Amino acid sequence: MIKMMELRKIAGDNIDEVIALDVEENQKEFILETTNLRCFADAHMLNADGIPATPLAIYANNTMVGFLMYIYDTLDHESFENEAFYGKKAYFIWHNMIDKNHQGKGFGKLAFEKMLIDIDTMPNGEADYVALFYHKSNVIAKTLYASFGFVDTGIIQDNSILAVKNLKGK
Ligand SMILES: CC(C)(COP(=O)(O)OP(=O)(O)OC[C@H]1O[C@@H](n2cnc3c(N)ncnc32)[C@H](O)[C@@H]1OP(=O)(O)O)[C@@H](O)C(=O)NCCC(=O)NCCS
Repeated sequence: MIKMMELRKIAGDNIDEVIALDVEENQKEFILETTNLRCFADAHMLNADGIPATPLAIYANNTMVGFLMYIYDTLDHESFENEAFYGKKAYFIWHNMIDKNHQGKGFGKLAFEKMLIDIDTMPNGEADYVALFYHKSNVIAKTLYASFGFVDTGIIQDNSILAVKNLKGK
């Protein structure tokens, strides 16, 4: 049973645990073959470039069970040019994973909900959207994100579907 769900900053005392978390072999394409270590490096590079990146460790009942990261950026990719969200500010979910030993217990859903509540406070600045990509065969991700109001945009890049949630029109 989940008594306590927390998103905690990553520091010297928990980075090794973040790196040790992993998904199943057949789920690696769902996280674009990246790793938590690489994502944490991405966070530092993005922050150095002035794009706020927030990597967070997911704890259920004081045990680390997953890792997620969002960034604050502008939806200005050229392939978005004809979309209503083109050029708008967004919180973009860069990475979202629950360790293979802790999946299917409701942690992913609760952590995602907590992250959306954080994002609602606009921690890095105002935004109109939350956006993310998920792999077209990732049924669990599709169901999870749809349950929080994410809508498919029809934009597909490298087998991943862009879905957005409008923060202002809620
Ligand atoms: C996707 C992921 C983050 C979901 O976290 P989780 O803790 O396993 O999922 P939860 O137990 O919180 O379940 C969330 C929802 O997913 C769906 N779901 C969970 N397990 C499922 C399964 N085996 N089959 C179908 N749907 C499932 C359910 O709709 C569930 O909602 P519900 O409880 O209201 O029915 C996690 O499974 C994961 O890390 N997978 C591998 C990496 C990945 O795909 N990341 C997402 C990249 S976009």
